[in-house]
Amino acid sequence: MGRELRKPGFKGATKVSGDVVRGTPRSTEAEALPSTEAATSDAEPAEATGLRADGLFVSYGGVKAVTNVSLAVQPGQIVGLIGPNGAGKTSMIDALSGFAPHTGSVTLGGGVLDGVGPAGRARLGLVRTWQSADLFRDLTLIDGLRVAASQTKVGGSGAWSSMKSRRERSQSDDARLLQLLEMLGIDHLKDRWPDELPLGQRKVASVARALACNPKFILLDEPAAGLDPPETAEFALRLRQVAHSGTGLLLVEHDMSLVMSVCSRVVVMSAGAVIAQGTPLEIQADQRVLDAYLGA
Ligand SMILES: Nc1ncnc2c1ncn2[C@@H]1O[C@H](COP(=O)(O)OP(=O)(O)OP(=O)(O)O)[C@@H](O)[C@H]1O
Ligand SMILES: [Mg+2]
Repeated sequence: MGRELRKPGFKGATKVSGDVVRGTPRSTEAEALPSTEAATSDAEPAEATGLRADGLFVSYGGVKAVTNVSLAVQPGQIVGLIGPNGAGKTSMIDALSGFAPHTGSVTLGGGVLDGVGPAGRARLGLVRTWQSADLFRDLTLIDGLRVAASQTKVGGSGAWSSMKSRRERSQSDDARLLQLLEMLGIDHLKDRWPDELPLGQRKVASVARALACNPKFILLDEPAAGLDPPETAEFALRLRQVAHSGTGLLLVEHDMSLVMSVCSRVVVMSAGAVIAQGTPLEIQADQRVLDAYLGA
C-alpha cells in the first residue's frame, strides 16, 4: 500500500481508510474502577483528573503496532497524536478505548481501566470516533445521537429520574443534543441520513455522536479528513469550544494546520513508538519528526 509523504507544517492530502474492529477486549468489563497509585510513569507527572496511557503495547500477530507508548491528556486539553501512515495512531486509540487487546495501563481520573471493555469505558466517560466516520446508517443524525446518548446513560433510578417525568427528561435530552449539533455547526442536518452527506459532514457528525455520550475525553481518529480548508478552520473553532467546555481531546490527524493550531501538546509516533513530544512549535522544528515524515 502506498504511503503518503506529509511534512509537518504542510497541509497534506488526508487519507481515510476503512477501520476494522481489531480483536476483542482482552477481558470482561469491570463494574467498578479500583483506584490506583500504580498509574505513574517516568513520561508524565501523575494527574488524578486526566486520561493516561502508561507503557502501552499492541501487537497483531507478529506486527508490533504500538511499542511502550505513554501519553496523558488533561480535562479541557487538546493533545495531538501524529505520525506517518502505519505509525500506530489508530492502534493507540483502539487500545485506549478498549477495542484492541493491549498490555500496559490506561487510567481515567486515577481509576484503572484495564479489564474494562469499550462500552464500560464509554460509560465512564471515554469515547472515540472512527477513522471511517462510523454512524448509524439507518438513523437520521438526531436519532443516532439519541441512541448514542441512551447507550451511555448511567442508571435511570437516581434523583434525576425521580424528579422528572420521562417526557421532561427526553425533552431536555433533545435540547442538549440539538445544542451539540449547533455547536458543531451541523444542526441544519439533524434530520438527514448519513449516506446523504459528504465525508466531511459525516466526520463532524461522528464527533457530535461522541459528544452525545457526555464524555470526559474523546479520542478523535482523523476527524477533519474530507473537510476543505475553510471547513477545517471552522472545525478548529468547534474543537476549541468542545475543549473549553472541559472535555479533553486526543486528536489523531494528518492535517498539520489543524493539529498545530488547536493542540497545546503534540505526541509524534513512528513505527509504533513515540519519537518526539512537545509544543507544536517544538515539534515543527524537531529533526526526528521531519526525518520520520520524509522517510515514510
Ligand atoms: N488488524 C490488523 N492486523 C494486522 N496488522 C495491523 C492491523 N491493524 C493495523 N495493523 C498494522 O499495525 C500498524 C499500525 O497501524 P495503525 O492503523 O495503527 O496506524 P496509523 O498510524 O493509524 O496509520 P494511518 O495514518 O494510515 O491511519 C501498521 O503496520 C498496520 O499495518
Ligand atoms: Mg489510522
